[in-house]
Amino acid sequence: MHPPPSIFFASIHKMANAVIIAIIPLFLAFTSAYASCNKQDHAALLAFARSFPHNNLLDFWTNATDCCNWDYLRCDDTTGRVTDLEFSGFSDDPPAIAFNGSIPASIGDLSALESVSFAQMPGLVGALPSQLTKLKKLKLLSVQNTQISGTIPSFLSRLPSLEQLDLYKNKLVGTIPSSLGNLVNLSAISLYGNQLTGTIPASLFSRLSSGSVVTLDLTDNKLTGPVPRSFANVAFNNINLDNNQLTGDASFLFGKSKPAYQIILARNKFEFDLTNVEYPEKNLAYVDIGSNKNIYGSISSQVTQVPNLDTFIVSYNHLCGKIPTGGNLDKFPARFYEHNKCLCGTPLPPCK
Ligand SMILES: *[C@@H]1O[C@H](CO)[C@@H](O)[C@H](O)[C@H]1NC(C)=O
Ligand SMILES: *[C@@H]1O[C@H](CO)[C@@H](O)[C@H](O)[C@H]1NC(C)=O
Ligand SMILES: *[C@@H]1O[C@H](CO)[C@@H](O)[C@H](O)[C@H]1NC(C)=O
Repeated sequence: MHPPPSIFFASIHKMANAVIIAIIPLFLAFTSAYASCNKQDHAALLAFARSFPHNNLLDFWTNATDCCNWDYLRCDDTTGRVTDLEFSGFSDDPPAIAFNGSIPASIGDLSALESVSFAQMPGLVGALPSQLTKLKKLKLLSVQNTQISGTIPSFLSRLPSLEQLDLYKNKLVGTIPSSLGNLVNLSAISLYGNQLTGTIPASLFSRLSSGSVVTLDLTDNKLTGPVPRSFANVAFNNINLDNNQLTGDASFLFGKSKPAYQIILARNKFEFDLTNVEYPEKNLAYVDIGSNKNIYGSISSQVTQVPNLDTFIVSYNHLCGKIPTGGNLDKFPARFYEHNKCLCGTPLPPCK
């Protein structure tokens, strides 16, 4: 017996309802896990893209899709706010994108940004825009391998959340703003490969909470004056001052119990006695103090107690005495030591 047609259709209808009722919660669960893109952020992104009319960014950023699904950015899943922007002139996925022009003011309207990165863009010019100060949640600001110019703006000290500032290989001039020392979480600064002048501000890293491990790279600039004494109390894991015109004593950057894995003071005008310097035993792998004006004295045998040391360049200084033997020092080539006043012993010729 077949049921009458009306009952048959009613039961189909019931089944369909059941399926729909089963699907709706799934759908809700899916959409509520990923909030859709915030409207103001959507508008700010389009304004940003329109600042680079020669670029194909608007091919990737179309109105047809939720902007949290666009390339070059990430959103917070629960708020739908854009938290990360990342563009690189050298990448495969998402495709490389390189801007011609300057960083537009509209970036300041993406007020939930935590991370901004522009890399490898020879057409990116101009100064950093002051609207960046609207980004109160920004932790990482990275603009590297571009032609941005002007000074490092002191308004960066109004980015209270900043943890990492990477402005290397640009066309920046002028001094390092001492106001960066006001930032309580800024523990990584990389400014190498610019044309910075003046002294290293003593305020840098002074307000970090104790125990913060710090990275500083100022290689290839034109900085002068001494390394601030206050740096004796900063827990650098990496400090690279290579190729500047820094003077005076920097021996306080060393110390047996420091966390440093790399200390590079090469190609400056430092003048200090190396004799009583003790080398960080925990992590130290790379030391280069070569080619300074007057680093004198001798090499402490404590250096043989550093288990991870693989590079120890002290060449082109005024050192004397017998090179310690033992530990990793037995593996090091003569070029690490050459051109000193009277260093001697393996791997250099024997002492007289
Ligand atoms: C894209 O979206 C914005 C904001 O929602 C709107 O103002 C604009 O007219 C849209 N553009 C197109 C081409 O649909
Ligand atoms: C962008 O700038 C680069 C480098 O300066 C240049 O080679 C390129 O032709 C520019 N492209 C446009 C569309 O202006
Ligand atoms: C600094 O970092 C700590 C630890 O992550 C955080 O709790 C604090 O809110 C940060 N301070 C500022 C001003 O962002």
